[in-house]
Amino acid sequence: MHSATNLSSSKTVYPSQDETLCDSFERAEYSIPHGCLAGSCGVCLIEIVEGANHLNTAKTIEKDTLDSFYNRNEKFLGKDIRLACKARFLNTGDVKFTKV
Ligand code: FES
Repeated sequence: MHSATNLSSSKTVYPSQDETLCDSFERAEYSIPHGCLAGSCGVCLIEIVEGANHLNTAKTIEKDTLDSFYNRNEKFLGKDIRLACKARFLNTGDVKFTKV
């Protein structure tokens, strides 16, 4: 079993393999702020503090949104920023993140 902890709200959920972090927190009624749920608005940005290796790899739409974010927020360069509406577990482990 894997877990995802939102350090900003101190809430932990146990996502299924095919659920995004957004969906798993929504199911547990601990919603992560979000907008489009399609990877383009950037409202659901999170910083992965621990366990980034347990998540899927960002694909084109997410990469474009992250590139735009990094271009406007250089202080986050080198950090593991993801979109909660696109990040999902790839393998078993624990992930901890904060809301950006
Ligand atoms: S909700 Fe819009 S990018 Fe995630």
